Formats: sequence, C-alpha cells, structure tokens
Amino acid sequence: MLTADIRRRFLDFFAARGHTVVPSAPLPTPDPTLLFVNAGMVPFKPYLTGEQQAPWPRATSVQKCIRTLDIEEVGRTTRHGSFFQMNGNFSFGDYFKREAIAFAWELSTTPVAEGGYGLDPERIWVTVHHSDAEARDLWRAVAGLPERRIVARGDEDNFWSMGVPGPCGPCSELYYDRGPALGREGGPAVDEDRYMEFWNLVFMQYERGEGPGKTGYPVLGELPRRNIDTGMGLERMATLLQEKDNLYEIDETRPILSRAAELAGIRYGADAESDVRLRVVADHVRTALMLLADGTAPANEGRGYVLRRILRRAVRSMRQLGVHDPALPELLPVARDCMAPGHPEVTDGFARIADQAAGEEDAFRSTLRQGTTVLDTAVAKIRDAGGRVLPGTQAFLLHDTYGFPIDLTLEMAAEQGVDVDRAGFTALMELQRERARADARARKQGGTADTRDLRRVLDTHGPTDWRAWDTLTTESTVLAVLGPTGPLPAAREGEIVTAVLDRSPFYAESGGQDSDAGRLTGAAFEAEVIDVQRPLPGLITHQLRVVSGELAAGARVQAAVDPDWRLGARQAHSGTHVLHAALREVLGPTALQSGSYNRPGHLRLDFPWRTALSGTVRGEVEEAANRALRQDLPVGVRWMPLSEAREIGALALFDETYGEEVRVVEIGGAWSRELCGGTHVAHASQIGTIALTSEGSVGAGLRRLEAAVGIEGFRYLARERDLVTRLSEHLGAPRAELPERIAGLLDRLKATDRENARLRHEATAARAAGLADRAVDAGGVRVVTTTVESGADEARALATAVRDRLPARTAGVVGVATGSGVVVVAVNQPAREAGLDAAALVKRLLDGRGGGSPAVAQGGGLSPDRITAALAGLPKLVTGP
Ligand code: ALA
Repeated sequence: MLTADIRRRFLDFFAARGHTVVPSAPLPTPDPTLLFVNAGMVPFKPYLTGEQQAPWPRATSVQKCIRTLDIEEVGRTTRHGSFFQMNGNFSFGDYFKREAIAFAWELSTTPVAEGGYGLDPERIWVTVHHSDAEARDLWRAVAGLPERRIVARGDEDNFWSMGVPGPCGPCSELYYDRGPALGREGGPAVDEDRYMEFWNLVFMQYERGEGPGKTGYPVLGELPRRNIDTGMGLERMATLLQEKDNLYEIDETRPILSRAAELAGIRYGADAESDVRLRVVADHVRTALMLLADGTAPANEGRGYVLRRILRRAVRSMRQLGVHDPALPELLPVARDCMAPGHPEVTDGFARIADQAAGEEDAFRSTLRQGTTVLDTAVAKIRDAGGRVLPGTQAFLLHDTYGFPIDLTLEMAAEQGVDVDRAGFTALMELQRERARADARARKQGGTADTRDLRRVLDTHGPTDWRAWDTLTTESTVLAVLGPTGPLPAAREGEIVTAVLDRSPFYAESGGQDSDAGRLTGAAFEAEVIDVQRPLPGLITHQLRVVSGELAAGARVQAAVDPDWRLGARQAHSGTHVLHAALREVLGPTALQSGSYNRPGHLRLDFPWRTALSGTVRGEVEEAANRALRQDLPVGVRWMPLSEAREIGALALFDETYGEEVRVVEIGGAWSRELCGGTHVAHASQIGTIALTSEGSVGAGLRRLEAAVGIEGFRYLARERDLVTRLSEHLGAPRAELPERIAGLLDRLKATDRENARLRHEATAARAAGLADRAVDAGGVRVVTTTVESGADEARALATAVRDRLPARTAGVVGVATGSGVVVVAVNQPAREAGLDAAALVKRLLDGRGGGSPAVAQGGGLSPDRITAALAGLPKLVTGP
C-alpha cells in the first residue's frame, strides 16, 4: 500500500467517525519551547491544556514532524527518521479510552478491501501502563486480545507528558510482530526491532507539575476534561504494509536512495557502510526538502542551523560515496516527486527550494575546495621530504581556519595515501582551549602579581585612595612593585610589573568599561599604564611597562590619565547606556543587557533575543539612540540606598555586586536609569555619534550589538560613504543602482560558470568516448589507463565518464593518473560482481596509499613518474590472483 493511500485511509476513517480533518501545520512552530513541530499534538496544545476552547470535539491530522536528537542513529537503525509524519486522532473532552482503543484496533485490522490496513490481528501486541487495569480490560473486551499479548510497563515507557507542566496520562502502544527472522520471540519488552511500535494512544487524564524529564514530576490531580491524543507513525505503517526492512526503503524515500546509488555507481545492499550512507542521503534530502518548503533557510543558528547541518551531512555522505559533483540538483527533484502527492507545497516552491539548496551545496563545496588545496600542498611537501604523516599542525590549521572537521581531514589524507598525526591534532586543540582559559584567568588577576602578595600589600597599607570619579591626575607614592615571583625593590626600563599606589586616578576595568590608559612619571623614570584592575576589594593594581629610567618602591610619582582616552571612555560608556535604553524602547523591556564592553570609540552590548534583528529594527534602534544624543539629555549621578534605587526602577545588571549605598546613573531621568560605577559624559550630545557596526549571535538566544562611538562613529560612517563612492565609480553606476547592478553581474558570472562546467563536461565526455573505444583486454576485463595534466577532480570525472562508456555487461576498470601525482580508479558493476574493488586496486597499485569506495577510489603519495609507472601495472593486477 502506498504511503499516500495509508494517509488517505487514516483521514477517511476518522472523518467518517465525526472527526474534523485539520491540515498539517508548517514545521517551524511558534511554540517557544520548540524549534520544529515534533509530534502530531503540538498544534493542538492550547486545546489539550484547556487554555483555549477547541473549535471541534474531535479532530484528525497527518502532521509533518522533525526530530534531530537522534541524528547519528539515522541510517544505522531501521526506524529513526529526521523527518516523519504522525497520523493522529484527537478528542478534546469528548470520547476516551474505550473508543480510542476500538478505533485503533478497527482501522489496523479491517481488511484492505474494506478500507483498513489489514494487519494480522494475531501478530499485534500492545503495552499498557502497569496501573491502568481499565486499558488492559478494554483490550481484552474490545479486541479480544489474549493476556499474553498485553504487556504492562512502567512510567518510562507508558506514561506520556509534554515534558512540561500540563496534561499527561498513561499511554498504550500497538506493536506488530515482523517475524522470527528479525529477532527473539517474547514481545516488545524483548525486541523492539522484531516487534515494531506503530501507534501510541495517550489517555490524557491528569495534570502534571514542575519536575525534570520523563519521570520524577508530581501528578497534581485529575483534569476537568479528559482528552485523547494518538500518534501513528506513517513511515512505520508504510514499512509494515510494504514489507520493507526499514523506513528508508518505503515508496516516499526509496527513489531518492536509488538515485543516490546510481550517481555513486554502486548497488544498494552490496556493502554495509555504503548502505548506511545511502540511507542517510535519502533521509536528509527529504528532510531538507520539507524544511526548505516550509520557509526555513540555511543559517548559523537556530532552525537554519539544523537545516544547514542536514544539507551538509547529505552532501558529505555523497562525497564519501565517491560523488564529487553537485548532488542536490539530482536528488531534490526525486524527493519532490516522492512527496508531492501529500504535500503540494514542495512543488509550488520548488524553484526557490532548489536554488537555496544549490547555493548551500556550492558554499560547502567551496569550503571543501579551499581546504583541499591546503591539504594537497601540505601532502606534496611531505612527499618531497619522504614522509607519510600529515603533522597535527596542518590538521589543526584546516580545522581552525577552514572549518574542516577532523574526520574529513582523515578521510581526504587517506585518499592521498597519507596518515594524520591525530595525537598532535588533539594536543593542539587542548592547548588552544587551555590558552583561552589562561587568558581569561590572567586578565582577572590583573597582571602578573600573585594574589597572596597583593593581600599582604592591602593588609599593610589599607585600601587605595581611589579618585577616578573626580580627577585625572594625582600626586602618589609607589607602595609596592610586584613581579610574578614576589615584591621587587625596583623595575628597569622595558620591564613589565604590577604597581600599587597609595592614591590613583585610573579607572579600573569593571562594569564593562575598559581600564584607563595613562602614565606614571617620577624624578628618575617614566612608565606607561597597560592595565588597571581591582583584584581585591579596595585594592587597585596597575600593570606598567617602564619606558625609561628605574621605578623603585617608595618613589613619589605623578599619576596621570590620558585625557583623550578618558573622554573616549566616557563617551563609550554613556553610549552603551543610551543604546541599551534605545533597544528597550524599540524591543520592549525583555531586551535587558546581559553583558557589555566599552573602550574609547567602541562598544558592544549583549542581550537575550531569539532572532536576528531585521534591518528595519536595527535602523529604529540606531535612530532612537541618536535622537537622545540630539535632544542632549542630561546625565546625572546620584547615590542612594539600594532599596530606593529599586523603587525608582534602576536596572541592576548581571552579576555585579552592590553595597547598601548604590550609584545610579541617569540619562534623561527615568529614560535610562542604571546602577553603574563607570565614568560618564555630562550631557548626551557629548557622546557625538552612535553608529551600529554589527549585529550577530553569540550563543543560543543571545544577540550582540556593536557600535562605533564619538569621532569613531563619524569615521565609520564616512568610510562607508567612501566605499560606496568607490564602488559607484568602479561600476560606473549611480549609487542607488548598485545592488541591482551587482546582482546582475553575479548572475552573469554564475551563467558563465555553468557554461564553463558544461564545456568541460563535454570535453571530458568526448575524450572519454575515445578512451573507452581503445580499452585493452586483460583476461576478459576491459582496462583503460591514461593520464591528465590537471588535478584530482578532473581525473575523477574522466575515470567515471570512461567507465560509464564501457560496454554495460562486460567487466571494466579505468585508471587515470594526474600530473600532480594522484591516481583515480573506477570499477564498473560487472567488474565489482567479479570481485574487483576500486579501493583494493588503488591500495595494491600504491602500496597501501589510498582509499575510497568499491566503485571509485583515489590514491597518491608517490612522485608523478612513479605514479604513471605504477598505473601501467593495472592490467596485470586485474588479471592477477
Ligand atoms: N503525542 C504522542 C506521541 O508523540 C502520541 O507519541
């Protein structure tokens, strides 16, 4: 029975029993707890919780679902799909257990000729919750099931909730026995592969409270209305009714799998590892199609990232199967034809879908290409030096700079006959992590001094007389000079040390504001202030570089903040407050700053927000901020008790700790009111300009805004204007027409690329035809060997093109060597059936330096001369034992 028929019978069956047919909701869901719909009940959640009155007492749907938690399992088991369809019938306070059980039983077991699924009643098993005697009795009474095939299970398996407070209840699952060939006798508790679950009936009759996970939450009481939520896996039912081994082989996915196998020149079922890859491709291509059809676009986070990962995994699996040409343009139309009967949206939007997928595949292939060039160069060097191992530093470079996952490097190195120093790579990764941690630690400790030494200085001399809020210069005494090993009598020119003064005008980094720059000058020395921190409450430390002379403990100095720096710092810090208030004005009060950093000329601000800000919203925020500057709002600083600050709504941000008396900075009175220890301008107009320079993601649900401030803001805008002027001059187009003009150029470039590819393809085809005609006979196998000037990609294209032009029923093997020292071997189907394997041949030709699939493999690791000589041995290898 075709999947479309299973779908139709389900809806017809329930429509005839008073259910309203509700179309599938799109995959992206507005539900804030989910990225995509992952169960049939998701669109009905408000009705099931009682939050809203359901418009109908009974409903039925076939809902599109995505689950990617088990993505690594896809292709490896018989029943994990990243996209699937859940057929469901729902009762909102109408019928309950008896009818739900009777419906499921009737539809499952009614003969096909009478509109049902025709499952053998003797092979159906069910599970019930161990406390649910009622369900057990109903299965006996309604379906006549014997006791043996009603299995009681605990909360873990048979109590269902949405994972959050709300309705919940025991559930009952239907399983089908697929026969002894698939596993041991004994029901679902013994083997879930032989006994495949196909339908889950949830009896929602309780309300659950707060608590972790699937179990371990309190049940608060009975619901006022009892609901039914069921889910029948459409793909699973198709697997059963089409008598397939797994859900990748049903009519809605198998054609994709077959086309992928055709492109790879292999047969499904011949090799376990290749089979897994084919199933991954079939699953992922279909999932990507459905996501793109519902409007998700590839991106670096959220929903778009799920899609990007799926697309890349599909492309990469094709690559592992030996297909280096774009695969999605071949596979997506097949997926569309599979899904169109139940989902017209895939046909309507197909031009756009194909375009987006092709763009993503192109981008990923260009990443692969760049990395491949780096890898090839590195391999050539290693070979020249007589080595066989790619150093960890190279693998790390590929990972760090080109985004190459290590398994890709391993695979591609193997194709060239080179090993990878994995231990070296892992050590570098660890080193990088350690360095990042150490950097963070070093900055926190404020220079190089040991905390115990600092504590001693504080105990001896008391807290620093800190004057950052009221002056830029102080006459001070150096209380201590500290190095990493402890107190020093003095520091000489060029040395970097930590100094403690009795009195300091320097702002120490805190509340997001960077520390002040400036100088210490004494009778016999001058030092530059690099960093100022407050490592202990009350103690300010200065990290200094001695520029000239000698800085000694006890010296009298003049401490001076660089006035330009401080002006910039005040502008940047006040600018941060202004931008924060503008952001909240536009987005609302939930856009609360969760971190910030500012220094002269620049600021950044992080805040929780789920989506990227659109160009319009960014514009509104920027304008609101600059309007405040133009209005010249006054900036005021007031001290008050914390309770009073709270009362007037001052924002206390992130993990700052505050004393009883707090400092409140106001801009325009209540417009911006924050607890803050920073230095600020006196009037908003002194900030000058705030120009947004970027907006992006810094983790799940967190956005970052960056801006240029003061004269830097002006300079940023001026640079942008100059850029547009230059572009306009280069292209000879008025500024307003630039976007259109550039889009036109890109289109032409793409067309030229396509034309080039077509010409290359034709040239390869012409050459391939000639070569196929000149194949030599080696013990009944047609063998072609040749060389190309260009690189591995061309060699691969030529090898497979020649192979595909050899007589279809005769065994044939093709070997192509490149001027750069790579060999590609392609083997046709009859030759593979006769026991010839491309990967094995390459390994034997090149003494183990190579790898690939049974159909196409690649190797290298010798000089070009020796490669050509080795390839000459191919006919003999083919005939040999
Ligand atoms: N909501 C139930 C499930 O997802 C039917 O299994």
